[in-house]
Amino acid sequence: MIRRKNILLVAILFLVVFVVTTNYLLYWLPRQSDVTITIEENIYLELKKLPIYYKINEAEIDDVGTLLKKINIVNITHAYNGIEKLWKLADTWPNKTQIVDIHSPQLGDILSLLSQAKIVKADLDHRGTQLKLLLTLEGGQQVIFKPKWYEIERVLEGPVYVGKDRYNSEIIGFYLSLILKKPLCPLSVIRQVSLRQDILPVATRRLIETSFTKNNRTCIYGKCFFCSINDPVCDDEHSILEGAVILNIKASLINHRSPWQRTYKKDKNAIWQEYSDSYCDIVKSKISKKRLYDLIDVSVFDFLIQNGDRHHYETFEETVLWLDNGKGLGNPYKHHLDILAPLYQCCMMRKTMYNNLLHLRGGRLVEQLRKIPNINKLITSEHLKAVDERLLIIFATIEYCKKSKKGKI
Ligand SMILES: *[C@@H]1O[C@H](CO)[C@@H](O)[C@H](O)[C@H]1NC(C)=O
Ligand SMILES: *[C@@H]1O[C@H](CO)[C@@H](O)[C@H](O)[C@H]1NC(C)=O
Ligand SMILES: *[C@@H]1O[C@H](CO)[C@@H](O)[C@H](O)[C@H]1NC(C)=O
Repeated sequence: MIRRKNILLVAILFLVVFVVTTNYLLYWLPRQSDVTITIEENIYLELKKLPIYYKINEAEIDDVGTLLKKINIVNITHAYNGIEKLWKLADTWPNKTQIVDIHSPQLGDILSLLSQAKIVKADLDHRGTQLKLLLTLEGGQQVIFKPKWYEIERVLEGPVYVGKDRYNSEIIGFYLSLILKKPLCPLSVIRQVSLRQDILPVATRRLIETSFTKNNRTCIYGKCFFCSINDPVCDDEHSILEGAVILNIKASLINHRSPWQRTYKKDKNAIWQEYSDSYCDIVKSKISKKRLYDLIDVSVFDFLIQNGDRHHYETFEETVLWLDNGKGLGNPYKHHLDILAPLYQCCMMRKTMYNNLLHLRGGRLVEQLRKIPNINKLITSEHLKAVDERLLIIFATIEYCKKSKKGKI
């Protein structure tokens, strides 16, 4: 009798252990439905056996490179005549296909003015969640000033949207858009200002109210979601603050929510992350084909610099603009593949974009980037190397798409 009870007990114990371990295993083993993981793995498999075709550097006529070399940012030492005319010229550029005329002989002059024209008014810019200034330059042109928070060598760990805006990401983004033959980023230049000498004397009251002096340095902290008096930007010991000056586009833009918006919560996936395989069908039912192609173009651009925070986007005459590119260049050792979700979920790409990318294979993309004025102040060689690796990952994604049933590329 006692023995039988023991056997029963042992049997029950076995059963419990069995149920617990199987559940544990089922929970932790990769699930079949976890499509995102499978797609990423597939792309990395393609990367390993990427055809040599994607790595050749053909000597071709290098039109963009020639244009980049011609962009001359010069010192404006004299009073510049016709400054208003130049601003007006830039205002005429935006149309359905571009917001910058890369062929304009005045491009260099306008960039020079952006980096040096006298600041006649300074205000807070309330758009977005980070500290930005809205400056008015001589001749009436409004520009956005994004201050430098980090040295370019600084590596930011964490989620793709971690940290503050990187001013250099805006500037590299602008030139990258030219290199990709999609001039859809606003003009951006590096600029040194002095809060003490250039900004405060022409600042609005509400900007002055967020300024203070500490150790004889002038600081401002602004008014925005992430702004705090404990987190100011300040002039350095030479009374200089560096940052990016970005041309404020005069056209009226329409703001849209991105279909690939993140939840910004660690434990909560967005629908596009949850249903990776079928999500594109949902998007296709809601937006036009042109819009979708536009968003896929942007995802390629964003992936190259790892600008992974595009929760919203703006359109001008139905074309998606590439605005707000400050979250790139955070970590050269990390490639957040899900920035490419529009590409690998839809497996579509414009032929022109595909050809433009092919022209940049075999190291040409980095060759072009090296022609950017002041490039060494803007990007490290680690980041340049990373951009080159990411181009190969984009080609691997295209190979994945060709082989998957979705394949339309
Ligand atoms: C412009 O002036 C600055 C400082 O005066 C100097 O460092 C820089 O080399 C000059 N740039 C050009 C293109 O002359
Ligand atoms: C936009 O402007 C450029 C240069 O001015 C021109 O070449 C191009 O054809 C224009 N595109 C459209 C769609 O109007
Ligand atoms: C504070 O800085 C200004 C300009 O940078 C300088 O002229 C002044 O001498 C400094 N004052 C002190 C007390 O260091």
